[in-house]
Amino acid sequence: MGDYLEEIIDKVKQMDFKDSIDFSLKFKNIVIFGMGGSGIAGKIFQDLFTKFPVISIDSYEFPQYIDENTLFISISYSGNTEETIRATDMAIKKGAKVWAITSGGELSKMVKNVILIPKGLQPRSSIGYLLNPLLLGSGLADDDSLKEAKENIEKLNREHEEMKIIADEIYYGNKIPAIFGFPPYKYVAYRLKTQFNENSKILAYWSYFPELNHNDTMPLKSTYRKELFYFIALTYPNINEIYLKRLKITSEICDFNYKEVRAMGESLASQIYTSIHQGDLISYYLAKRRGVDPRDVNIIEELKRRLS
Ligand code: PA5
Repeated sequence: MGDYLEEIIDKVKQMDFKDSIDFSLKFKNIVIFGMGGSGIAGKIFQDLFTKFPVISIDSYEFPQYIDENTLFISISYSGNTEETIRATDMAIKKGAKVWAITSGGELSKMVKNVILIPKGLQPRSSIGYLLNPLLLGSGLADDDSLKEAKENIEKLNREHEEMKIIADEIYYGNKIPAIFGFPPYKYVAYRLKTQFNENSKILAYWSYFPELNHNDTMPLKSTYRKELFYFIALTYPNINEIYLKRLKITSEICDFNYKEVRAMGESLASQIYTSIHQGDLISYYLAKRRGVDPRDVNIIEELKRRLS
């Protein structure tokens, strides 16, 4: 097993993964279930696909409307996550059209339509395998956009000094990252929060525009020990100007500096994956500075064991 950086950098290969969910089936709504590093794929997707109602779930509470008109997509890297197995079982019993994205486990046995992905990775570093089947099947990505994503990830793999600098500024400044996202990629910002949690083993905060202007704006101005936070704004090319205007005015009124981390490329696939990749790199370098193993999730595993 090499250094975790290799696993992160290898994301570039995942841009060639072209298996996809069959969206030509008849359905009226889409429910995507997944936890943690697997569930993030559904969260990101739900804000992007607007042809049908989509909801992503990560709890024991299910919508009543799940039935034979539902396309239920179950995502679990291991295929053994308790919440995901339970939800999938319920969806099967309700007659939903069930698909799974997994590397194996129980899930691969209980679902007929399975997208099987390679084993041996951390769930969170297999994001291309987990998300491409949704983006490709729904038409939100195609060969060209994944090619653009791949080229831009390759660029980042060659040159990402800025990500190391951000990690250093967080580390030496003893800061807590606070990440601001922008629709339709607000869950990419949430993903970075979870990468700080799992890879760097630090607590982190996230929020998103314009909603944060109606709540976070108050403490942003006068919170207890504002100097503790390191603010990151995850922007992207062609972002609606209104968001940038809000960011600028908010930072002026509330008097905080932020680091802008901009996604690369024109296509949605390139923007999502480069934004994710930059965050993965920052969280990796922060883990290294902190002397923690970015791969280690032993507490999550112990929890799963004790609950089983
Ligand atoms: O990144 C991780 O290891 C976790 O967040 C897992 O993804 C989470 O515990 C769910 O497990 P799985 O992805 O195997 O369903």
